[in-house]
Amino acid sequence: MSDFAQHLIRWQKAHGRHNLPWQGTRDAYRIWLSEIMLQQTQVGTVIPYYLRFLERFPNLARLADAPLDEVLALWSGLGYYSRGRNLHAAARLVMERHGGAFPEYIEDIIALPGIGRSTAAAIAAFAYGAHCAILDGNVKRVLTRHFGIAGHPGAKKTETELWLLAESLLPAHQVNTYTQALMDFGATLCTRAKPRCASCPLGSSCVALATDSVARLPTSRPK
Ligand code: ADE
Repeated sequence: MSDFAQHLIRWQKAHGRHNLPWQGTRDAYRIWLSEIMLQQTQVGTVIPYYLRFLERFPNLARLADAPLDEVLALWSGLGYYSRGRNLHAAARLVMERHGGAFPEYIEDIIALPGIGRSTAAAIAAFAYGAHCAILDGNVKRVLTRHFGIAGHPGAKKTETELWLLAESLLPAHQVNTYTQALMDFGATLCTRAKPRCASCPLGSSCVALATDSVARLPTSRPK
């Protein structure tokens, strides 16, 4: 296992988040719902919406059966309503294409509306323990800093480089713990504005810290 993965997994066990309502389940429906809500919304805001949503739609079949306006009413306040629309459309597609069972293969997961490569990988890792790398905004920040990667992460070339790096770092075991570690580490320690480098378990190998470039990475979008 890479030192990077090993340190992160150890950090997660001691300092990561362990009591989020979507943790401790392997129900792909619940994990999918949480990942969609968490795409553009912070954990603290998502929690009550997630719980209310599950109370009304406890499984995928119930969501697929519901009229769209009821789904959007429960989304009200979370913003980015296309997420709610896509969720509902995807639930109906899972009924049609997969007989109501959320798909296991990453190719089938990505084919659903509202699910990009990173979200599909997170669902596959958490629900099925699949060996898939994630690369969301937090992970891009962690990787560009730790490995000193310049270039705007939204640029195709940089993004391709980051995906290859993310895949090369994946541990053979404990992918779900590692994936949660990357998310929690980016959200709570290697934050955008106030990273807590003094408490960082990866500080001794962080290129950005060694070259005093933490505040300059990830590189901003070119003007
Ligand atoms: N952000 C995206 N997915 C998340 C998850 N599963 N837990 C915490 N934060 C997240």
